[in-house]
Amino acid sequence: MSDAENKYQSEEAEGQRTPWGHIIRGMWRSPLGLLGVSITTVSITLMVVGLVIDMLGLVENPYAAIATYLVLPGGMITGLLLIPVAAYLRRREFHKHGISREHLKINLSDHKHRRFVIALIVLTVVNFAILAIVGYEGYHFTESPYFCGVVCHDVMAPEYTAYQRSPHSKVKCVECHIGPGAEWFVQAKISGLRQVAAVMTGTFSRPIPAPVSHLRPARDTCEQCHWPEKFHGKKVKSFTHFTNEDQVNPEVVEIALHIGGRNRHSGAFEGIHWHVSKDVEVRYLAADDKRTQIARVKVKRPDGSEEEFVKSDIEVPAEREGMWRTMDCIDCHNRPTHVYDMPEDRVDFGLLSDKINPAIPGIREDSLAVLTKEYASRDEAEAMMADELRALQTQRSEEQVVKYGEDINKAAAYLLEAYLGNIWPKMNVTWGTYKGHLGHQDADDGYGCWRCHDEEHQSESGKTITQDCSLCHDEPK
Ligand code: HEC
Ligand code: HEC
Ligand code: HEC
Ligand code: HEC
Ligand code: HEC
Repeated sequence: MSDAENKYQSEEAEGQRTPWGHIIRGMWRSPLGLLGVSITTVSITLMVVGLVIDMLGLVENPYAAIATYLVLPGGMITGLLLIPVAAYLRRREFHKHGISREHLKINLSDHKHRRFVIALIVLTVVNFAILAIVGYEGYHFTESPYFCGVVCHDVMAPEYTAYQRSPHSKVKCVECHIGPGAEWFVQAKISGLRQVAAVMTGTFSRPIPAPVSHLRPARDTCEQCHWPEKFHGKKVKSFTHFTNEDQVNPEVVEIALHIGGRNRHSGAFEGIHWHVSKDVEVRYLAADDKRTQIARVKVKRPDGSEEEFVKSDIEVPAEREGMWRTMDCIDCHNRPTHVYDMPEDRVDFGLLSDKINPAIPGIREDSLAVLTKEYASRDEAEAMMADELRALQTQRSEEQVVKYGEDINKAAAYLLEAYLGNIWPKMNVTWGTYKGHLGHQDADDGYGCWRCHDEEHQSESGKTITQDCSLCHDEPK
């Protein structure tokens, strides 16, 4: 008789080769079982500690949260699975040596069995309770802007920063990016996993390309909170611009935008939100992924009539033929929350709000120069910007620098803040990387309303999509 068989025989004598014996001794006597028990115990202990710390708000560290909510529960489940596997292997080993084939019997009148069953039930309930709490908290954690914005810090920093200063800073990322419903939830978690892989391997695009090609249709998400029936009337907006020649008296343009909505008298939809109103469908075919070159536009009106407008000098590449898109909120509001500034706007706002003293000669021009200079990194900008501004001002006049020393420092601090809020060299995000479609300030680059409203998209009858200034807002004086 071999040593091994000896061992099995002797265990038989102790009644340890019953299925119960395999489970219990499998946990202690086989390396695999021992590993399972250790992993489970360590995972549960750390998880409970992490959970308590997080719920009490003692530590706010994304890596601690990832460990608590994603890594440790995985460890715990793996550990728990190893225990029955170890028992099974142990039992199979016994059978190989020809030792009996008893089946698992639960005899509740046997006090040993009773104790074991009770212990098993209690442990299972406790484990499930812990897993449920961790799962619930973990679900909320992965749905939080904090998770989206901070965990993938380097990747999401531009979007997260712009988001935090936007009107939607209290709306969660997932409310726009995923929206309600199981189907999109699953799709989002799958593409989320792919994104995590891209971050770990460093293969993500820099910058992240816009538009987002698989964004959920905005009608599903935006209309949770804004619905077209609610739009009405006009919205007055004013624009303030300075020039390098006149830093003191701004040019102010005030326009009343025809927001539109349902006309109370006629019941018809009109104005800017006509494109997304009931029974209207505007579809378009763009020649590029950025949707800046619009070749054809089809309109379906409430009275059932249809019309197509074509700009004949735009050629659509063969692979984009048939990629018609129905216009929704995002075709105008492509920057509802990731709103980036242009350097002129930040400098003009600084002059208007006295963060940049307009009395300093040449300060507008110099501010724009230091703001648009290329720095290798955000750290470099932080280190250099004030010196750069002072150097440019010194070139103008040394007395000026003495006279306005304090103000120049204040301006430099303001400009640095503007820079840090918009530029991420590591992600190749710089001034104008992400432009908005809301007006026509960037029409030359193919952004905004004039992609279609350019008098060049023509129907068969020779009608064009109009650029009449009074269509969208009262004519600026
Ligand atoms: C109010 C709705 C809304 C919220 C809230 C929101 N996003 Fe977005 N996000 C958008 C839209 C719309 C786009 C698509 C822009 C486009 O297609 O041009 C977008 C685009 C992006 C992009 C692609 C790059 C870009 O700038 O276009 C990233 C990355 C992103 N969002 C991350 C986030 C993160 C992280 C959060 C939370 C911190 C968040 N978003 C919250 C609406 C939102
Ligand atoms: C969970 C609710 C919610 C969702 C979803 C949402 N918004 Fe908003 N939106 C708000 C709130 C709240 C405000 C702020 C209102 C205010 O400040 O008066 C706002 C403001 C706005 C404004 C006015 C901004 C300004 O500068 O005054 C626009 C435009 C807008 N949202 C568009 C969108 C678009 C487009 C989407 C879809 C991509 C969207 N919203 C999704 C809640 C939401
Ligand atoms: C044809 C382009 C276009 C489309 C499509 C569009 N909007 Fe707008 N929307 C605008 C413009 C332009 C403004 C006013 C610009 C501003 O406030 O700077 C505006 C203003 C708004 C405002 C602010 C209203 C106010 O009174 O302050 C909200 C909210 C809004 N839009 C939501 C939406 C939602 C939701 C959708 C999709 C159902 C949508 N928009 C579709 C162009 C559009
Ligand atoms: C994808 C093409 C496209 C884009 C982009 C676009 N429009 Fe339009 N718009 C149209 C078409 C098509 C019509 C209908 C023309 C017609 O019926 O003659 C229209 C009609 C309008 C009308 C008249 C609605 C009514 O009362 O009948 C307004 C106002 C308007 N657009 C404003 C805007 C504004 C503001 C923007 C930018 C924020 C914009 N549009 C962007 C295609 C577009
Ligand atoms: C298809 C709609 C549409 C048409 C047509 C249109 N605009 Fe505008 N315009 C807008 C919108 C929308 C804004 C607001 C942009 C914003 O909120 O940033 C705007 C803003 C402006 C501004 C203020 C922007 C600034 O930075 O000073 C001026 C000036 C202006 N328009 C002039 C004109 C003139 C002149 C015409 C006629 C040639 C015209 N617009 C035709 C939609 C239109």
